[in-house]
Formats: sequence, structure tokens, C-alpha cells
Amino acid sequence: MKRLVITIDGPAGAGKTTVSQALAERLNYRYIDTGALYRGVAYEAGSRGITPDDDKGLENLCSTLDLKFVSNKSGLRLFSRDSDITDLIRTPSITMLASAVSARPVVRNYLLGLQRKLGKEKGVIFEGRDMGTVVFPDAEVKFFLDASRKARAIRRYKELKPSNTQTLQEVEKDMDQRDKNDSTRSLAPLKPAPDAILIDSTGLSVDEVVELMLSHIKDI
Ligand code: DC
Repeated sequence: MKRLVITIDGPAGAGKTTVSQALAERLNYRYIDTGALYRGVAYEAGSRGITPDDDKGLENLCSTLDLKFVSNKSGLRLFSRDSDITDLIRTPSITMLASAVSARPVVRNYLLGLQRKLGKEKGVIFEGRDMGTVVFPDAEVKFFLDASRKARAIRRYKELKPSNTQTLQEVEKDMDQRDKNDSTRSLAPLKPAPDAILIDSTGLSVDEVVELMLSHIKDI
């Protein structure tokens, strides 16, 4: 079968990561979690005291950043230079900071170049918010995965680490704020590409979503 670029966009908690990983395994494709890259920028900005409104600081940061995915026995890991930051980018504060820095053009431009470089070789699934609209407008298959607000909040809550102290209500509140930030920003807002296949994962298992996606891919 022809090797493709597949994009999966959608809001937080719609199941993009789990589905993308499962689909990549079925197709023997690579999988790129672009949200992790925004989280990586947020983590490095936060560690240096750079705030999301400091464009000059963010620009300097991006010019020296070295973010890369490394596949090892623990799975797909995100490295910033020589440090494995995979487990450090999933805290509630980095989650909110990632949403804030992702609205800044200087950060989006930096990651646009990086993401397109990663897409040079076909046979890859990109998961994010603007993969089908901005980064890979020519991708052969585009999905937009959504689910009800309640289902998304419960999924996010269940994904949190045992050390988490957030209640479900707090997770819901953060998710609402993030939905608003991500879909109302002027640059590359979260929205389906005109040619995206819309899938509502509320009430569907991961396998059911993957099978549905495979049935569309088969037609290409
Ligand atoms: O998918 P995630 O929750 O890990 O993403 C973290 C933030 O990064 C999200 O709030 C919006 C931003 N993001 C983006 O703007 N564009 C992408 N392609 C991926 C993520």
C-alpha cells in the first residue's frame, strides 16, 4: 500500500494520542505527537522564566532549542538536547503554559519548520491542532477527532498521574480554558480542515475508532 501522511487534529481529550499510536502500529507508520513539541517549548520557557508574552525571549529560546523524539525501550521519548523531558511536560501548569505559548507566532513558526522536516519521509501520522489545516494541507488523509465535553474531561482526568491533586471539576475548567485559547487564537486555530473526515469518539472504543479510520484509509 502507498505510504501516506495522515493527520489527526482535535481538542484535548478526544483520544488523539491513543488512537494515533494504535493506528501507527496497525499501519507500521511513525507517529508524531506535536502537542509534546509545544509542551517542550513551554517547559524550556518556564525553566528560564520566559513568559508567554515575551516574544523576544521566546524568539531567543527557539533559536537555541534542540527538541527531538527518540524511540527507546520506554517508547517514544521527547528530548531537549540531552535531557529526557517526556515525564516533565505533562503537569497541569505546563499544559496551560503550552496552550499560551502555542498562540505566539514566533513559537508556531519555529515548530512549523521542525514539523515539516519530520514529515519529509512518508508513512507518518501527525497528531495536533493544525496538522491538516496549516502544517500539512496536502496530507492524503485528514481526520478531525472530537468527543463530548464530559467524555473528554473524564478521559483527561483518568490520564493524570497518581500524584495528581486536581479534581474532575478543575480538569474540566482547565480544559474549557484551553479549548477557548486553542480555538480562538488568530494564528492556526483549532478547526477541522475543509477536507477532514470528522469522527466523534464519544461512546466508541479505541479499536472502533481505529477500524473506522482504517476503512477510510483503505479507499485511498
Ligand atoms: O495535544 P496537547 O494537549 O499535548 O497540546 C498542548 C497544547 O499545544 C495545546 O493546548 C495547544 C498546543 N498545540 C497546538 O497549538 N498545535 C498543535 N499542533 C499541537 C498542540
